[in-house]
Amino acid sequence: MEGVIDAHCRDLLTREAGFDWTVTEFVRVVDARLPPRVFYKHCPELLNNHHPELQPATPTGIPVHLQLLGSDPDALAANAHQALRLGAISLDLNFGCPAKLVNRHDGGASMLRDPERLYRAVDAVQSAVGDHIPVTAKIRLGFSDRRLALACAQAAEAGGAAQLVVHARTRDEGYRPPAHWEWIGRIRTRLSIPVVANGDIWSLEDYWKARTLSGCRDVMLGRGALADPWLAPRIRHWQRTGHRLAPTTWSQRASLLSAYAAMQRNTLPDKVVVSLLKQWLNHMRARNPEAAQRFQALRRITDLNTFLGGLNQPAPPAIAVGQP
Ligand SMILES: Cc1cc2nc3c(=O)[nH]c(=O)nc-3n(C[C@H](O)[C@H](O)[C@H](O)COP(=O)(O)O)c2cc1C
Repeated sequence: MEGVIDAHCRDLLTREAGFDWTVTEFVRVVDARLPPRVFYKHCPELLNNHHPELQPATPTGIPVHLQLLGSDPDALAANAHQALRLGAISLDLNFGCPAKLVNRHDGGASMLRDPERLYRAVDAVQSAVGDHIPVTAKIRLGFSDRRLALACAQAAEAGGAAQLVVHARTRDEGYRPPAHWEWIGRIRTRLSIPVVANGDIWSLEDYWKARTLSGCRDVMLGRGALADPWLAPRIRHWQRTGHRLAPTTWSQRASLLSAYAAMQRNTLPDKVVVSLLKQWLNHMRARNPEAAQRFQALRRITDLNTFLGGLNQPAPPAIAVGQP
């Protein structure tokens, strides 16, 4: 997730068993072949040596797939080749990004308006990397409406995508609930490649519903994994044992955020680290009252040590609603 999930975040989210693979923030491809430093910035795991046999991977060995976003087949092919040369183990193509700037330049979800163009993009990347590594794609259900949802999915498959993630909303629906998981099911039954369900999975219950309505074996977590960093382990634990993990506590959240800060402050100024912490806490607060209270108490703080101290203090008093 662009601007949110970097290598440190991937590391922390994969320390406990849960995720099968992770994806980088997108590398924006416009017209030229990008220099290696751009790929290393998005995917420093290309350089790591934790698991030489599994590179690039998080320190616990969970594979990291590299994502490209672009529309020009030649530029995508040149950069796919570059990524392969630098050690990418899988390339994911982003046809879901709703950002206006990206869409104005014909990237992300704007490709959903023209399945033929989407096909050419996937085909170009697949031809560039051949049988060396898989190419996968991520789509939404359409740009303004769902009329081309199936055509886009079929175009990705015809272009050579080995797997398709479907975010169950159109671009115009943004991130507004609900996610239309049943639509993913309609696509899944018409494709022969694996289809992965994505969108609005915040809890174990959502996971069950998304799987039931889509019929997909696998799901992809986005904001839900930030809101509850133990969501993937929670799902995995249930799959393995049939039992529920206890809800994530504030002290687990505070330890994770403190570990994140310790990693980030090695390379970033303290003020930037505070912004990143607020960003993550903001994702947590939507689904967790204690995180909401902490966010409220800490949102004006700019000093990193004060912020970290606040994370680890006893809970502030709850805000009374409706009292004078
Ligand atoms: C801040 C933000 C950044 C995102 N960046 C990316 C990205 O770089 N690549 C991508 O495929 N999806 C990206 N997404 C979309 C998510 O991966 C996911 O498809 C979407 O949020 C729906 O799933 P969710 O409801 O589980 O979050 C981003 C979403 C958000 C909110």
